[in-house]
Amino acid sequence: MATPTHTSDDASPTVTLIDNQSQKRIELAILPSNEGPDVIDVRNLYRDMNYFTYDPGFTSTASCDSAITFIDGEKGILLHRGYSIEELASRSDFLEVAYLLIQGELPSKKQRQKFDAEIQLHTMVDEQLISFYNGFRRDAHPMAIMVGVVGALSAFYHDSLDIKDLAQCHLASMRLISKMPTIAAMAYKYTMGQPFVYPDNELTYSENFLRMMFSVPAQEYVPNPVLSRALDRIFILHADHEQNASTSTVRLAGSSQANPFACIAAGIASLWGPAHGGANEAVLNMLNEIGHKDNIHEFIARAKDKNDPFRLMGFGHRVYKNHDPRAQVLRESAHEVLTELGSTEQPLFELAMELERIALEDDYFIEKKLFPNVDFYSGIILKAMGFPTSMFTVLFAVARTAGWVSQWNEMINEPVHKIGRPRQRYIGYGLREYVPTEKR
Ligand code: ACO
Repeated sequence: MATPTHTSDDASPTVTLIDNQSQKRIELAILPSNEGPDVIDVRNLYRDMNYFTYDPGFTSTASCDSAITFIDGEKGILLHRGYSIEELASRSDFLEVAYLLIQGELPSKKQRQKFDAEIQLHTMVDEQLISFYNGFRRDAHPMAIMVGVVGALSAFYHDSLDIKDLAQCHLASMRLISKMPTIAAMAYKYTMGQPFVYPDNELTYSENFLRMMFSVPAQEYVPNPVLSRALDRIFILHADHEQNASTSTVRLAGSSQANPFACIAAGIASLWGPAHGGANEAVLNMLNEIGHKDNIHEFIARAKDKNDPFRLMGFGHRVYKNHDPRAQVLRESAHEVLTELGSTEQPLFELAMELERIALEDDYFIEKKLFPNVDFYSGIILKAMGFPTSMFTVLFAVARTAGWVSQWNEMINEPVHKIGRPRQRYIGYGLREYVPTEKR
């Protein structure tokens, strides 16, 4: 099936923009979207009207055409290539979702085997990269190591840097998805002072990652299917999310024709920020602070108090205003994992469920359309599995690499390649004369 396309023609609807001062007017084409709002084409606005548009935070700006992921925040819908995230989370696995994101279709059996074989071929990293790790302090944050090591891949894999060569782009994409768990687990092992564990290609993507994270040479590691399935689901749920900050960063870096490893390193840097990848850690801290069900009402009252900066962490989302479809899946996963482990995190989970129940019945949260987001339950699952909080965002990066790579490939294959170059509303000084030091 071909990717659906849209073209505009003379009969396309337009909007007219009239400058009330000069009475100049311009017809702006409305380009149709397959789902979600259509877009107003403002590309000639500066040329014809000498205006820029102004949209800090890009709340109303479509920065590109994309056929990969669609989100309807009002209805709580997330689709990858047309498939709902709930269906993918229950029926697919992470590598199949990665294939879907990159190729646009679900793989046939043969295509899947070929894809798996390609991924397995690249799970190891160049041995010399180990010296790179040794250059970091042991107490370095694993995300700092990720930014450095992934950026450094461009110094190791010179045969996959030419973005004008499709085969090289494919090779770089496979390498990134394949090596990311190895690089992430090595970052953890390094900070723990434990030996690196080499990948095992007999295992699934998630099993292999768990083994590289948690096994030690002194003890055999047997992957637990409940935990590897839960991790795989977390990977699926974080694989792509349209033009978010890190994905837009990858696209912007790539628009200058920078090599793919450098672009993904830029994405990791953007993801590291607490406003993007770090909220599940904040949820755990909050639950620990609440401590007991009896204290929930006090914290709900604080969240509603305008004079108190406290917010319910893991509640609300910039785009989802009905429910976050990923949160429900993770609630089930949390239940499965904690039952399997008989974990000490069980009271935290019960506290979280009670907090969710009380908040969802509260008028403040109903009126403001505040629902649990993907981060509300993911931290509990990861903590129960034994991941330290400093690794939470690293796991997000492992999963999101599939999305970054897909979005990067989509961008570099566009027929017209334009460097991303936003403009600004300048609010600084006009021209002024230099003042010598003695006169300042
Ligand atoms: N607790 C209490 N009140 C909240 C919360 C919350 N978690 N979230 C939003 N509100 C209130 C705001 O105070 C505001 O009220 P007002 O209109 O009376 O001023 C209103 O709801 C709208 O909030 P905004 O911050 O304007 O909404 P925005 O869409 O910009 O923010 C955000 C979304 C940042 C996620 C916000 O809901 C939040 O801070 N949540 C907690 C942090 C969190 O869970 N972040 C993870 C997001 S998911 C992710 O990044 C993968």
